[in-house]
Amino acid sequence: MSADQTPIVEAHNISKYFGGVIALKDVSMELRRGEVMCLLGDNGAGKSTLIKILSGVYPPDEGEYLVEGKVVHFASPRDALEHGIATVYQDLAMIPLMSITRNFFLGSEPTQGRGLFNRFDIRRADAIVRQELLNMGIDIRDPAQPVGTLSGGERQSVAIARAVYFGAKVLILDEPTSALGVKQAGVVLRYIAQARMRGIAVILITHNPHHAYPIGDRFTILKRGRSLGTFTKAELSRNDMIQMMSGGEELEDLERELREFREQANPRPAEASPQEELSEFGEEWG
Ligand SMILES: Nc1ncnc2c1ncn2[C@@H]1O[C@H](COP(=O)(O)OP(=O)(O)OP(=O)(O)O)[C@@H](O)[C@H]1O
Ligand SMILES: [Mg+2]
Repeated sequence: MSADQTPIVEAHNISKYFGGVIALKDVSMELRRGEVMCLLGDNGAGKSTLIKILSGVYPPDEGEYLVEGKVVHFASPRDALEHGIATVYQDLAMIPLMSITRNFFLGSEPTQGRGLFNRFDIRRADAIVRQELLNMGIDIRDPAQPVGTLSGGERQSVAIARAVYFGAKVLILDEPTSALGVKQAGVVLRYIAQARMRGIAVILITHNPHHAYPIGDRFTILKRGRSLGTFTKAELSRNDMIQMMSGGEELEDLERELREFREQANPRPAEASPQEELSEFGEEWG
């Protein structure tokens, strides 16, 4: 296989246990260069656990993890970052009172002068930030503006631009659009498309089929810690996905249950465990 066709990230039969909980069992997936792969599944399916393994937060208990065809053992997220794997979490590690520029460079500031005279080169930094954001189609008024004044979508976009600038080859996003309105989610999805155009491979976790379908090239579906497979758009129609993600049948069942609940005044006998009910409920409304 030529270097270009080697998947940038491969997971082979990965398992992860938390005490008695099987968070992942025998999960395999691959991420190709320049694609957006959506990771889909119910609450508790193991999506966040999988990306935490890929981003160096936890080691897998079983299985192999390869980056650009070589087995890796990451001890920390910094290790993953050094291999070009950047993860943007929903609760971003940004400091609201600090400027966009300061947040952008946090810990990797360009400096000017040597030794005692070494200081943060703010003009250069501002210019870089403005240009990087412009490259992604974001025109900010003032890079000195505190991050706290940006909208949620803009903040996500700055985090994506930062990962791109620092050389990410793989960008992992855990529900970047879940707290955003339609318009802001559109902004973030556009930056994801921009990142892909720059050759970056993206893993996107979302519960929203209307976000996943337009942007995704392939879709990996997890269910209770196992992979149901990876599908292309040709293999998974928009309707199949909407039906699957909005749990069409389950939603009808739930409606019926809630109706009966109201009619009977006293609770029906429990069939599913409370945890299963909660997790299904969470998915319909999450
Ligand atoms: N640190 C942990 N300790 C114990 N159990 C955990 C831990 N992290 C995850 N789990 C369990 O592993 C399973 C998978 O969790 P995970 O967070 O990966 O799901 P998810 O697909 O990201 O769900 P959601 O859509 O709700 O974010 C769940 O049963 C969860 O309770
Ligand atoms: Mg999660």
